Amino acid sequence: MALQSNDGEGKPPVTELPHSDMQALCQSDTIAALIFCLSVLALSGAHAPALPKGEPSPAFPKFVLLQKGSSPMKRRTFISLMSVMAAAGVLSLAGCSSNTSSSTASSTAASASASATAANKLETIQSNGKLVIALEGAWQPWSFHDESDTLVGYDVEVSRAIAEKLGLELQIDDMDFDAALLSVQQGKADIAMAGITVTDERMAVMSFSDSYATGIQSVIVPEGSDIASVDDLAGKKIGTQRGTTGYLYCSDDFGEDAVVAYDNGLTAVQALNNGQVDAVVIDNEPAKAYVESNPGLKILDTSYAEEDYAIGMAKGNTALLEAVNAALEELKADGTLQAIVDKYIKAE
Ligand code: ARG
Repeated sequence: MALQSNDGEGKPPVTELPHSDMQALCQSDTIAALIFCLSVLALSGAHAPALPKGEPSPAFPKFVLLQKGSSPMKRRTFISLMSVMAAAGVLSLAGCSSNTSSSTASSTAASASASATAANKLETIQSNGKLVIALEGAWQPWSFHDESDTLVGYDVEVSRAIAEKLGLELQIDDMDFDAALLSVQQGKADIAMAGITVTDERMAVMSFSDSYATGIQSVIVPEGSDIASVDDLAGKKIGTQRGTTGYLYCSDDFGEDAVVAYDNGLTAVQALNNGQVDAVVIDNEPAKAYVESNPGLKILDTSYAEEDYAIGMAKGNTALLEAVNAALEELKADGTLQAIVDKYIKAE
């Protein structure tokens, strides 16, 4: 199939669904609630290690070369007993990595998960004719609403191009970041593209495409702050977005009591403006957008960690994974990805 240009013609229709909150993703019975809580714990609150830093992403070049000189702080990479238990709980209860769980207690959840996965099989997606993507439309420049309230951004255009390659209509489901992670695991969305960092913990409960970009965890502070490096965060209140690696790293390194988890990046930055937190740890591209629109804030020159972004989907969805990777590869080869990078990601 010939690749369409990015300027609008021949694009499949995009349907935006209303914002859904985390509660809506949760079944009402107790087991589902338990799975939900454990999943949130494993994905967001537990002390998950990041992927080893400084290693090249498996099959994809880094498009976002925005590192600011000094190398990222080396992070501790232990897995706490709690996170192992939480991950094990999620796996056995939700059957995320295996549909053959024999535990009686897990049967309801396991079968729910198995059918959710079946709902995202490539054949099913193809016969429905649409690819459902979960993203957060408040994540500039990856996916955000422009002045005319149109959802635009790198993730929006790349996912549209992937859908085109696969001959599918794109349906965008706009939600909170942590909800997007759960949405693909629960089979509500086929793919999630939301600046999702590949981590070991997440790889235990979902699959990832080849990496399409590099992200950096940056630190935003008020101008004149006595915080000059990541180490200076010790003893400070740190704002983060719920369910993100920023939250994870900070609670791991500085203790959960030091970290506040906000619904989204904007509310974290507002808390910084109001003096409720001393710093915000968040991905570098949104950080730049926040600092641009909030005079009096700055980004530290030293970054916290470097990460690989990839597209998430339900675990074991091999045919979909291969199709998405093949589409990405073609979009890279024909220059489409670079054109979208150039459009949205400002060179330093
Ligand atoms: N890269 C970080 C992570 O994976 C943060 C991503 C947040 N994405 C978003 N759309 N708010 O945890």
